[in-house]
Amino acid sequence: MLLVNVVILAAGMGKRMRSSLPKVLHPLAGKPILLHVLDTARTLSPAKICVIYGHGGEQVRQTIGNHSDLIWIEQAQQLGTGHAVKQALPHLDSNGVTLVLFGDVPLVKRNTLKVLIEKAHKDSLVLLTVELDNPAGYGRIVRDSATNRIQAIVEEKDASPSQKKIREINTGIMILPNNHLEEWLDKLSNANTQGEYYLTDIIAMAVNAGIPIEASCPESDWEVIGVNNKIQLSVLERAYQRDVANGLMEQGVMFADPARFDVRGQLVCGNDVEIDINCVFEGNVHLGNNIKIHANCVLRNVKISDGAVIHPFSLIEDAEIGRNCRIGPYARIRPGTQLDDGVHVGNFVEIKNSHIAAESKVNHLSYIGDTEMGRKVNVGAGTITCNYDGAFKHRTIIEDDVFIGSDTQLVAPVTITKGSTVGAGSTITRDTPEGQLTLSRTRQISISNWKRPRKDKG
Ligand code: UD1
Ligand code: CA
Repeated sequence: MLLVNVVILAAGMGKRMRSSLPKVLHPLAGKPILLHVLDTARTLSPAKICVIYGHGGEQVRQTIGNHSDLIWIEQAQQLGTGHAVKQALPHLDSNGVTLVLFGDVPLVKRNTLKVLIEKAHKDSLVLLTVELDNPAGYGRIVRDSATNRIQAIVEEKDASPSQKKIREINTGIMILPNNHLEEWLDKLSNANTQGEYYLTDIIAMAVNAGIPIEASCPESDWEVIGVNNKIQLSVLERAYQRDVANGLMEQGVMFADPARFDVRGQLVCGNDVEIDINCVFEGNVHLGNNIKIHANCVLRNVKISDGAVIHPFSLIEDAEIGRNCRIGPYARIRPGTQLDDGVHVGNFVEIKNSHIAAESKVNHLSYIGDTEMGRKVNVGAGTITCNYDGAFKHRTIIEDDVFIGSDTQLVAPVTITKGSTVGAGSTITRDTPEGQLTLSRTRQISISNWKRPRKDKG
C-alpha cells in the first residue's frame, strides 16, 4: 500500500482578510477553515499530517489543539510554497508520497483527494487542476502542444501573454514522490518576479527526470477555491451550505429555500422533514420523521422525535423534544430540558433544566426552571418557578394532573402534589395537598364612595 504523508501549508498571513484573527482560523460553517482541511485529511488515514504554520502560530496551534496525529512545523519566514514544503522534509517517509494541501482551501472533498491518491505511485506526480473561464491569478498548466503532456507550471506573474491565455490552472493541491523531493526542493531558486521559492518549479524538474505527471480534476470547481478575503469566504460558505442542503434534499428533506439555511455542525434528518427559511442548526441536531421546523428557528445540539412541530422564532439548545410536541412560536428551550411526547410549549415561554412528562402544557409567558413536571399538567399564563434564592438553585416538583392558575409563583423548593389546583395569582411557598384548591390571595374589596381623581378643567 502507498504510504501517504500530508503536508498542509498554512503559514501565510492572509493580509487581505483585514483581521487580527489568522486567516486559517476564520470560521466556515462555524468551524475554522484549517480544521475543515484537517478533518478531510484525517478521513484519508495518512501516515502523517504535517501542518506548516507561521503567522499567528501560537493562536493557530491553541485553537486546533495538540493532537498526537499532527506534526506542527514552524516556517518562521514565508519564502514561498517550495520553501514551506521543505520544512517538512525531515518528517516525510522516503518511500512514500506527499499530498500537499493548502490551509486556506477548506472545501476540497475526500472523494476528490481519493481519486488523486488512486492515480499516484511512489515515482509519479499527480496534480489537481481545473479549467476556469477566468484563470487570472493562478499558476497555469503548460502542456506540450504535440503530446499534450504537462511540461511545467508557470505562475501568473511570470507568465508570457500566450501562457496567460491557458485556462487550465494549478489548484495547488498535488501529490509528490518523496524519494525525489529533497533533491528537487534543494534546487529551487527564487529568481522570479515574486522572489519566492515556488513549489510549482519542481514540475519542470520532474519532466526532466522522466517522472510521469498526471492531472486529475475535482468533482466541483468550488472545492478548490481558496480563501483570500471575506468575499471569497462568503462564496465558500454558501457553496458549503448549498452542498449540505443538496445532500439533505436527496434524502427527502424539503426546504422552503435551500439558499436560506445554515448548518454549523451535523444535521441528521428522518423522512418528511420540512424546514422553512432562515433556520440555523448548530452542533449535533437530530430530527426524526414528519417534523416541521418553521421560519427563523435556531437549534443547537437537539434531538427532536417524530411528528414534532417547532413554530417560528424558537431557540432550542441541548435539549430533547419528544414525539408530537408543539413548541413556539417564540419559545426558548435551554440546556438540560427534556420534553416527553405531546408536550406543548407556547409563546414567550422559557424552560431550563427541566423534565416535562407527556401531554403537559405550558402555553403562555412562563418560566419553568429546575423543575420535574408530571403528565397532563396545565400551567397557566405567566407562571414562574422561583428557583434561585440568590445563592442556590432549588427544584420545583409538579406532579401529574396539576392545574396551575395564571400569574402564579412557585417558590422552590416546593411540591405541587398530584391532582392539586392552584388558584390564579398565588404565591406558593409550601407543598399543596393532593386534589385540593390552594390559593394565596388577599380578599377582593370594593370601595363604594371612592372617586377617581380628575384634573381641574378651569
Ligand atoms: C499558489 C500556486 C499557484 C496556484 C495557487 C492556487 C505556487 C508558487 N503557486 O499560488 O500555482 O495556482 O496557489 O491557489 O505554489 N504558504 C506557506 N508558506 C509560504 C508561502 C505560502 O505556508 O512561504 C501557504 C499559504 O499560506 C497558502 C498557500 O501556501 O495557504 C498558497 O500560498 P500563496 O502565496 O497564496 O500562493 P499563490 O500565489 O496563491
Ligand atoms: Ca493563494
